[in-house]
Amino acid sequence: MDRASLPRPGAAGVTLTPRGYRVGVLGATGAVGSTILDVLAESEFPAAEVVPFASERSAGRSIEWNGAQIQVRALSDETIQGLDVVLSSAGGTVSAEWAPRLVDAGAVVVDNTSYWRMHDDVPLVVAGVNPDAAEAHSGIVANPNCTTMVAMMALAPIHRAVGLERLVVSSYQAVSGTGQKAVEELRTQAQQVLEGNESPAAEVYPHQIAFNVLPQVETFKDGDDYTTEERKVMAETRKILGLGEEVGISATCARVPVFTGHSESVNVQTRDDLSAQACRDLLDASPGVTVVDEPGEGRYPMAIDATGRDDVLVGRIRRDPGQERCLNLWVAGDNLRKGAATNAVQVAELLVERGLLNGS
Ligand SMILES: NC(=O)c1ccc[n+]([C@@H]2O[C@H](COP(=O)([O-])OP(=O)(O)OC[C@H]3O[C@@H](n4cnc5c(N)ncnc54)[C@H](OP(=O)(O)O)[C@@H]3O)[C@@H](O)[C@H]2O)c1
Repeated sequence: MDRASLPRPGAAGVTLTPRGYRVGVLGATGAVGSTILDVLAESEFPAAEVVPFASERSAGRSIEWNGAQIQVRALSDETIQGLDVVLSSAGGTVSAEWAPRLVDAGAVVVDNTSYWRMHDDVPLVVAGVNPDAAEAHSGIVANPNCTTMVAMMALAPIHRAVGLERLVVSSYQAVSGTGQKAVEELRTQAQQVLEGNESPAAEVYPHQIAFNVLPQVETFKDGDDYTTEERKVMAETRKILGLGEEVGISATCARVPVFTGHSESVNVQTRDDLSAQACRDLLDASPGVTVVDEPGEGRYPMAIDATGRDDVLVGRIRRDPGQERCLNLWVAGDNLRKGAATNAVQVAELLVERGLLNGS
């Protein structure tokens, strides 16, 4: 049931100028950054040169990109000169300091961290959902949180068609959403437990993640009983879809022992009625979304099927029997691809297409 997808980066229909751009990839050795390099290599983004950046620990290391060896650099006033666009995923602290410095040096930064997302003068852009927001950038365009991004692909078409009244999102998030160290933590814990040994002590997460489910993604800040991840999902959804406080949004985020692919149960109450079949038809026609909804045949969105693809899978579409104008959906998406890298490359393409890079 593969249907309409967003044009792959560089695919026919996406008009890119012939000029070659110097593209920085900040965090290039990490989970998101290495996926950005993969997506860039698969795309036809007109890159004259790709410059990978990481911490001092990785500086000088060679990595293979598109059949060539490219050398990882550390950030400095010298190394950041002459870049047209930087796809950044080295954590919030690095972005807080270096995004403005990269902008001063002439680049437009597409930032994957949470640091800039809620700043008023920074557009928060999901390609295929609110591309026009990018027009107002002042040097930085933010990529939403991966859980928000996956939900947006299903919810934006519904919002456009019938309006959202209330959302309840429950996520089942993969460990690669926390980065490479978390992937290693799940792997080593699972190996040890399967060999009959005690699990090594948890370092990345507050508890053992192998064979467990943690109802905590990120941290509880300042006595809040929602986690910072849950707050991001709620706030970013409002910013991207332009929802006011009259629309109720509630999120519960859980970490599950899955390497890649975030799954989400979404309970959506709409302003106007939308039948389950009309919702299927609507999402089937939505770029970047694939409906997989034959539950009786065992066909529904699963993390392992969502992994490695750029579209988001939606299924288990059914009426909420207890509430008027209310549907339940199950959504699965690759947190590293559409949840981060694919969207970053699509936003970079948007900047080229619309002449929004400096000097273009
Ligand atoms: N993982 C996801 O699914 C996902 C999705 C959306 C957004 N994000 C966000 O993207 C960011 C990166 O996530 P990740 O999962 O890719 O993490 P990760 O696997 O831990 O990678 C972190 C990257 O940042 C680099 N780095 C660390 N400190 C640095 C410094 N001082 N200067 C320059 N580079 C530095 C690391 O380089 P070294 O290898 O040299 O240490 C590495 O390349 C986070 O802000 C995260 O919230 C992640």
